[in-house]
Formats: sequence, structure tokens, C-alpha cells
Amino acid sequence: MKNSEYDKRVFYSESKVAATYDNFRYKGQSGAYVNNRELATTISLLPSDGTILDVPTGTGRLLKRLNRNNFHRVGGDYSEAMLNQIDEKGISKTRLDAFNTPFENEMFDVVVSLRFLFHYSDINIFFKEVYRILKPGGIFICQTYRWSPLAWDIPVPFMVGGKIHIHSDNKMQKLFCKTGLKVIEQKSIFLFSPFFYKYLPFIIVKALDVFERIVPDKLKVDAYWKSVKEN
Ligand SMILES: C[S@@+](CC[C@H](N)C(=O)[O-])C[C@H]1O[C@@H](n2cnc3c(N)ncnc32)[C@H](O)[C@@H]1O
Repeated sequence: MKNSEYDKRVFYSESKVAATYDNFRYKGQSGAYVNNRELATTISLLPSDGTILDVPTGTGRLLKRLNRNNFHRVGGDYSEAMLNQIDEKGISKTRLDAFNTPFENEMFDVVVSLRFLFHYSDINIFFKEVYRILKPGGIFICQTYRWSPLAWDIPVPFMVGGKIHIHSDNKMQKLFCKTGLKVIEQKSIFLFSPFFYKYLPFIIVKALDVFERIVPDKLKVDAYWKSVKEN
């Protein structure tokens, strides 16, 4: 793992970063729109119930949206400060390294990973770990970006949390296959990096929302992958 990537864990462990995370990423009406679309897209791919691990869970924004009667909810994250933002009863919190979790084999019906893969250039070991902890027939949902200025070697205004990495559709397909996971559904949203949506007036965001419907999926930025661990 490169030093700059290790620094991401340190960055998210700062209490000020954790305390302002949701408000900074999803501020205002345009930020709330981004949050809602990301979560609605993920939830539309979920099965109706089961034991679910959200890794890394961050402030638990996904788990808080899930019905507590249907899901046994587990959130794992390296940052204690991020986990401390979750105060909802019924969510089990585990401090962990996503590349080497403390869970037993075949524990989860579902594993979800949002806004994580782009932090690391090499995600092979994470995929092996997900495969290990998923039950046979279990579902893995994750998310990648197809392009972003945050991945380019140029200074980007307002950038926080460092450079990100692009994992192409082709590379992802090969990685799922190599790991023993079969891609069964894919959804794509946003015309450019959602990081920048929150700086736009909401009326523009609504116009982009309409325009997005006629744009082919391959040209959209944010890709959601649903895969199954084959028996
Ligand atoms: C951008 S946040 C995303 C959090 C959450 N998935 C979401 O969508 O809101 C990235 C998270 O990854 C966590 N993280 C980074 N590297 C990690 C690692 N190796 N193991 C576990 N968590 C890690 C950070 O602590 C941070 O909470």
C-alpha cells in the first residue's frame, strides 16, 4: 500500500474531519440530493433482509436508512472518530482494517462498500476478504468512479482527502470474475463527480437530473455493482 493511501485512514481518523463529514459532503439541497441518490441506488440493489456489513461504514449513513426489522446491521471502519458519529441503537460497530477484518468465514448475507475502492490503487486483497466473509449466495455491492478530476495529477480547488483512483469497468469485471463473484446488475448515476454537485444551485442539479436520463450509462460517472458469491 502506498503511503498516500495509508494517509487516508489517518485523515478520516481526525475528529474534526469525522464531525464535519456528513455536513461537508452533503451540505444544502444539492448535497442532500447527492446523498439521497447514492443511498437510493444502493438500496434498490439490496435484498429484502439479512445480516449486512457496511465496510467502511463511515458515519453509518447507509445503515441508518435501513429497516432495523429486516436487517441485522454491522458497520466496520478504521476510524474510531467516524464510528463515533453513529449513535443509533441496533447498529453494531467494529473498528477494523477492511483488508483484514476480524470476522469469521461466511458470516454475512450482504456486504456493501461505498466511496471506498477509489481510495486505493490495489483492491485485490479487499475483494478476497469480502469473498471470505460472504455466505455462499451472498451479495456484494460496491461503487466505483469512471472518471474524476480528483484522479488527475493536477491541483483541484477545494479537494479534501487526497487523490482518488479510477478502477475501469473492464478491470472491475475481471476482478469480480477472478474473485469468484458474478456481476448480476449494474446501475450508473451522475454526469460528473458528485463531489462538485453540492456547489451548484439546486435548479441546475434538477436540470442535470432530467438530462441524465437520456445519457447512456457508460458515460455516467458513478457505477454501482451488484454481485453474488456463487455456490
Ligand atoms: C469517504 S468515507 C466513506 C464512508 C461510507 N462508506 C460512506 O459512503 O459514507 C471513507 C471511509 O473509509 C475509511 N477507511 C479508509 N481506509 C480504510 C481501511 N483500510 N479500512 C477500513 N476503513 C477505511 C475511512 O475511515 C472513512 O470512514
